[in-house]
Amino acid sequence: MEKRVWTVGDVLSWTVNYLAEKGVSSPRQDVEYLLSYVIGTTRVQLYMQLDRPMNKKELTLFKALVKRRLKREPLQYITGVAYLWKYEFLVDKGVFIPRRETETLIEVATFHLKRRERAFIADVGTGTGCILLSLLKDNPSLYGVGIDISPKAMEVFLKNRARLKLTDRAWGLRSDLFSAFPERELFDAVVSNPPYVKSHEIEELQDEIRLYEPVEALDGGRDGLDFMRRLIREAFPRIKRGGFLCVEVGMGQAEAVTFLMRRAGFTGIEVEKDLSHIERVVTGWKH
Ligand SMILES: C[S@@+](CC[C@H](N)C(=O)[O-])C[C@H]1O[C@@H](n2cnc3c(N)ncnc32)[C@H](O)[C@@H]1O
Repeated sequence: MEKRVWTVGDVLSWTVNYLAEKGVSSPRQDVEYLLSYVIGTTRVQLYMQLDRPMNKKELTLFKALVKRRLKREPLQYITGVAYLWKYEFLVDKGVFIPRRETETLIEVATFHLKRRERAFIADVGTGTGCILLSLLKDNPSLYGVGIDISPKAMEVFLKNRARLKLTDRAWGLRSDLFSAFPERELFDAVVSNPPYVKSHEIEELQDEIRLYEPVEALDGGRDGLDFMRRLIREAFPRIKRGGFLCVEVGMGQAEAVTFLMRRAGFTGIEVEKDLSHIERVVTGWKH
């Protein structure tokens, strides 16, 4: 019997239906990414190759990746990359996957840093480095340090720093908040997307997050604000006069974070919403 030839188009439509039947939430997007990864092309170019037959090696690799996705492994851990702002970041198991809503924090910080010359920034809980590296890449007069307690995050941060050619302006430091950083060094700005999920809500998160993402990147303690309380208190003395602290917050946390910032001495506090109209970023100034 003649063996069936599977073209890119056949594989695309068959797998989209299959993943949809299995309850994967964005089957077309996932299949597009996995297929382009396997045949080494972009998502757009994929559609120019729909009639191209896939060889045995490609089919075997693709099947293995689809199996991983069916076990709810996030797409970004399978392909090893995530996209945020204008850039591609390497990700790996053990490191938080950058989220779209973090672009609001990058946007707010970019606005406040626009007219600053040689500003020194700390990104606390930097993960892949997506916040700090985006800010530095866009503005060549900035420099800064990405701080993370996780050795794996630091490893990935350093790779992203090299890929984005920022080794001369970005440093990485493994540290519990600012503890390993010299006290006399002051920052023009501190930015952070901290762990802010309430401990008891972690079990209710979707499988992709609950089973695969590092818990220390998510868990904010009983009310989700454990890290935030420490960050706000410890950041204030580390910021220069005229500088600011800009943090991402979870849904419903903006008011409590505003209160914590005011109590620590910050003034002119502003709250910014994300694209879904959720209060997402709180900024406070040290005057
Ligand atoms: C929500 S993730 C954010 C990662 C990245 N900034 C982003 O926006 O994609 C929080 C990060 O904080 C780090 N972290 C948790 N506790 C920390 C601590 N005590 N000191 C420094 N970093 C910490 C985690 O390892 C994780 O990378």
